[in-house]
Amino acid sequence: METTTPLNFPPNNCTLTHYPAAPPDPLFTSLFTLLKRNMYTLYKNSTMGWSKKDKIDEMRLPGLQYLVLEDSSDDHKVNGPNLAAFASFMVDLEDDIPVVYLYEIQVSPLHRNRGIGERLMREVERRAAELRLAAEKECGREKERVEKVMLTVFSANKGARRFYERLG
Ligand SMILES: CC(C)(COP(=O)(O)OP(=O)(O)OC[C@H]1O[C@@H](n2cnc3c(N)ncnc32)[C@H](O)[C@@H]1OP(=O)(O)O)[C@@H](O)C(=O)NCCC(=O)NCCS
Repeated sequence: METTTPLNFPPNNCTLTHYPAAPPDPLFTSLFTLLKRNMYTLYKNSTMGWSKKDKIDEMRLPGLQYLVLEDSSDDHKVNGPNLAAFASFMVDLEDDIPVVYLYEIQVSPLHRNRGIGERLMREVERRAAELRLAAEKECGREKERVEKVMLTVFSANKGARRFYERLG
């Protein structure tokens, strides 16, 4: 079940919705469109290449959760209905220890450099900490808490690398 929180991200009215699985269409298509717009060239120029099918399969991986930031002001109606940014993440076990994997963080070009990416990362960390706690309780490893969020970034993606380095 999804949950929506108003964020009041100045100067716009933004809401953040948590989806415990890939959201339904038309939102799913908007997320894919933003991701492709942001990442297509980087994938295309990498050894991996771009595959629509592979990316959609990955976006629908069981266990993948989404945080979606929507902007209700009228001046940013791009990438589908008011989509400003989204992040997708999963809590998984690695050697029996719960770890958070960040799959995507995508901010619409019109919404960048306003602290939205940082805010979204903090929200992922906060929600992942709750999930991790639950997973740890389930596997009885409460004392082996791992505070790390794992992610991969194209070495050519200089802006994203700087962003992650700044966030530590
Ligand atoms: C990387 C990405 C997620 C960052 O999102 P963002 O919302 O622009 O991030 P922030 O606004 O928090 O930080 C970006 C910069 O804006 C600056 N900034 C933050 N708040 C600001 C504000 N209110 N006013 C002006 N600048 C601000 C930050 O200092 C930061 O500077 P840096 O470029 O030196 O890191 C975004 O650029 C993006 O979606 N890129 C394309 C997709 C991508 O590469 N994703 C990562 C895949 S691994």
